[in-house]
Amino acid sequence: LKAGLIADIEAADTLDALEALRVGAMGKSGVVTGLLKTLGPMSPEERLEKGPPIQDLRESVTAALADRKAQLEQAALDARLASEKVDMTLPADGGPQGSVHPVSQVMDELAEIFADLGFSVATGPEIEDDWHNFTALNIPETHPARAMHDTFYFPDETGSDEAAPAAEGPDQAGRKKMLLRTHTSPVQIRTMMTQAPPIRIIAPGRVYRSDSDATHTPMFHQIEGLVIDKGITLGHLKWTLETFLKAFFEREDIVLRLRPSYFPFTEPSVEVDVGYTLVNGQRIIGGDGDAAGGGWLEVLGSGMVNRRVIEACGLDPDEWQGFAFGTGVDRLAMLKYGMNDLRAFFDGDLRWLKHYGFSA
Ligand code: PHE
Repeated sequence: LKAGLIADIEAADTLDALEALRVGAMGKSGVVTGLLKTLGPMSPEERLEKGPPIQDLRESVTAALADRKAQLEQAALDARLASEKVDMTLPADGGPQGSVHPVSQVMDELAEIFADLGFSVATGPEIEDDWHNFTALNIPETHPARAMHDTFYFPDETGSDEAAPAAEGPDQAGRKKMLLRTHTSPVQIRTMMTQAPPIRIIAPGRVYRSDSDATHTPMFHQIEGLVIDKGITLGHLKWTLETFLKAFFEREDIVLRLRPSYFPFTEPSVEVDVGYTLVNGQRIIGGDGDAAGGGWLEVLGSGMVNRRVIEACGLDPDEWQGFAFGTGVDRLAMLKYGMNDLRAFFDGDLRWLKHYGFSA
């Protein structure tokens, strides 16, 4: 009996099979249990004679069960370790790779181009006050740019989000109507008030207007440029814009068209168009917009800084002059990379980024 039981135990090839054998031998109605039960009613003499072989059987079977169990468990563990092995020396399969967004890309390109021209980068708050965004820029209270339609105002303490009367000067900063800046031009003011001229800065950043369609989003990006020095003329402005647009569009044949315009903070004001040529029905920047098949695209607003703005910043306009310009970064990106829906810039759709080569 003993040899047979132990042989069976040693041959059990799964933990389940082994458990079945254990129950058959040592369980409540197992063979070994049955033999042990016969010891009870025996006389002391008989028990002395038959007891030891039964006890020996019980011990041998118990030991064989434990040994086999340990072997099977070890085998299961080995198998698991082998199947779950991780080879730390294999190269990792690179996860998804991010990329620079076209807007950031264009801002970086512009910062680099203007750095070569001696401009540094200035910043200002997106939550701006009425004075810096409008008044100091010679935008009178009746100017349409102040209408609720365009500007996101913060409600004041009275709960009103009507445009409050503008504070009259920088020293009245305590009484401020707050808004989301509608352009980067307030950075002109902040720079002139904190930096001694000569000044050469660009100011890239987010701006906000209550407007939304295929070519307008409530948040978009501008880059402001400002030069304040002695003897600055419109010629400097034109050369700077030409140089920057040639570098940005990476073409020598950039043709500019300057149109007289109006901005309260520049006088005279100039709107700037670049010529494009139609190639396979696509507008490609470059060439004379008046040539056959060509046309003009407005790319920026600019002008000579209005002397009232220079004065508002505490500088003497007879001593210091300059020019300023502002351009839409999103629009420049669309023109350079041939994108046609502004809203896609802010959808975060990887397929769109990939299509224009901006995603791995
Ligand atoms: N701030 C103007 C706009 O948002 C652009 C501009 C900037 C015009 C600087 C002239 C000079 O439309």
